[in-house]
Amino acid sequence: MSTSSNLRSDEYGGSLENRARFPLEVVDAVIDAWDAAHVGMRISPLIKFGGLDDADGLEMGLYIAERLNERELGYLHLSEPDWAEGPELDDDFRIKLREAFSGVIIAAGGYDATKAQRVLENGWADAIAFGKSFIANPDLPARLAIGAGLNPLRPELIYGGGSAGYTDYPALGRSA
Ligand SMILES: Cc1cc2nc3c(=O)[nH]c(=O)nc-3n(C[C@H](O)[C@H](O)[C@H](O)COP(=O)(O)O)c2cc1C
Repeated sequence: MSTSSNLRSDEYGGSLENRARFPLEVVDAVIDAWDAAHVGMRISPLIKFGGLDDADGLEMGLYIAERLNERELGYLHLSEPDWAEGPELDDDFRIKLREAFSGVIIAAGGYDATKAQRVLENGWADAIAFGKSFIANPDLPARLAIGAGLNPLRPELIYGGGSAGYTDYPALGRSA
């Protein structure tokens, strides 16, 4: 989908519609095999991960959202820039995305309770997903509910393969 990775010159490259063709064909094939209500898609409009730098990521995000809305997809997952150092998504995009897709929107990326509450209360997303803070805090919902502090993530252990950094983060009231 990205202008920085899609260098094709056939009907799957070039224009925004062409770059969206393949992912939408995949979505349609999955819907055919299952059903739209149980299919979701994740988009990352401004992501810089892996050297990506999309010239029209926001426009593409809204285009895809409209096409998925037509298909009545189960949910649209919005991956927001954070550790990949992309810029913050602005409220204007959130508002337009909400207008484009009337199904369930799930947002993720650098959320804390305050940011989550703001996005939910404005109706810009229906649910917020937490990644790194959940890895480091097995009892994250309980902590957010009472405003407790969070264990810091130990990023060097993320892909560790053992119990360290996987099952040894302490829950409230339980030492490591
Ligand atoms: C260990 C790890 C692996 C991840 N793998 C993927 C992945 O395969 N695909 C993807 O879209 N996002 C992946 N992510 C990104 C998360 O889904 C999420 O968008 C990101 O961590 C930002 O949310 P957070 O700030 O709550 O962690 C991964 C994140 C982590 C920490």
